[in-house]
Amino acid sequence: MAKLIFDGNEEEIELPDGSAIAEACEEAGVPFACTEGVCGTCVIEVKEGKENLSNPTQEEEDFLGAGSCDERLACQCRIKQGNVRITF
Ligand code: FES
Repeated sequence: MAKLIFDGNEEEIELPDGSAIAEACEEAGVPFACTEGVCGTCVIEVKEGKENLSNPTQEEEDFLGAGSCDERLACQCRIKQGNVRITF
């Protein structure tokens, strides 16, 4: 199991390896709109464990810029394994 940790309230959500993180993020309060990587509403900042997330999608690269920093679009990411700490 992989684990998504929300910085701030330390809420932890366990997810099967390879899961999309959108639903867990939505439950934790991350706002969503398009869910297709276009609007940027669901942007999150990865504090730890970014190597445990799937590679950025084309939509993320278009919106956030290629090779970008620590920001991801929650509607586009999957968690591969291990722990990932995010904030939004
Ligand atoms: S909800 Fe629109 S980019 Fe994720």
